[in-house]
Amino acid sequence: MKDFTILAHNYVRPEVQAMADFVGDSLELAQKAKLVTTEYLIFAGVDFMAEMAAIVNPSKKVIHPEPFSMCAMASRVTPEMILAARKDYPKAAVVTYVNSSAAVKAVSDIICTSANAVKVVNSLEEKQIIFTPDRNLALYVARNTDKQVIPVPALGCCPVHHSLTVQDIQDRLAEYPGAEVIVHPETIPEVQDVANFIGSTSAMARHAKTTTAKVIIVGTEVGMLTRLKKESPDKIFVAASPLLSCADMKMITVEKIEAAIRAKAPIVQVDPVIAEGARRALERMLAVS
Ligand code: 13P
Ligand code: SF4
Repeated sequence: MKDFTILAHNYVRPEVQAMADFVGDSLELAQKAKLVTTEYLIFAGVDFMAEMAAIVNPSKKVIHPEPFSMCAMASRVTPEMILAARKDYPKAAVVTYVNSSAAVKAVSDIICTSANAVKVVNSLEEKQIIFTPDRNLALYVARNTDKQVIPVPALGCCPVHHSLTVQDIQDRLAEYPGAEVIVHPETIPEVQDVANFIGSTSAMARHAKTTTAKVIIVGTEVGMLTRLKKESPDKIFVAASPLLSCADMKMITVEKIEAAIRAKAPIVQVDPVIAEGARRALERMLAVS
């Protein structure tokens, strides 16, 4: 009997998505990781996702086939930055985007993903929210709640999504007049302003199935087009920009997964004290979702 389960993020290569037991967004992957019953969980995604799986399901061995696949946004914040912000805003709650290290999660009050950021923030009593590390998602949350949102660091972002411009969208619309525009909340507010729909990767997949639009311009990482085309074959999907490719997600290959399964390594290790703190913040999020 198979002693491993492969979970994959929506951005990994098409052939990796094809070999996975489940493909989803960060929230769905956290929920699935918790339910895995096989001895090994192979995580096809960037480092923080594999680490998150190890934290929410500590009884399983989580394998990250390419430890150098690291989210560029997650590295923009340290626990020290959060502790300093807490001193500056003692009444604020700390909401940390899942794209962060376990050490940062451990000094946070609660975690969120792009799928539930507004819901998580609205679940808190505090009026002031320290939000880390994505400034663009922080601004999206500020627009959709009545909270005072303080982005920490002031300019944290995903270099992939932040590169998308309004001009890119206008160029694609000139090529495909009347197309619908869907974007991820990690894009800049000006891009979000010209979009018809803003959501997490899996929210995009659900939206694409129900919209009446025939052509959809996709403002997120290009790996997403694989799932969109598979689930909505009657529609045309166009990448909003050729620059929307996350090199770290593409480091996960079929060959590396097969080698990791054979070697049963490398297994993700998280310091137990840090894991305990991060688990508390992650479980609080899962209870809200
Ligand atoms: P989702 O949770 O929407 O899949 O996003 C994860 C991510 O890394 C976006 O860049
Ligand atoms: Fe991180 Fe951006 Fe890659 Fe998502 S697309 S994993 S936020 S670097």
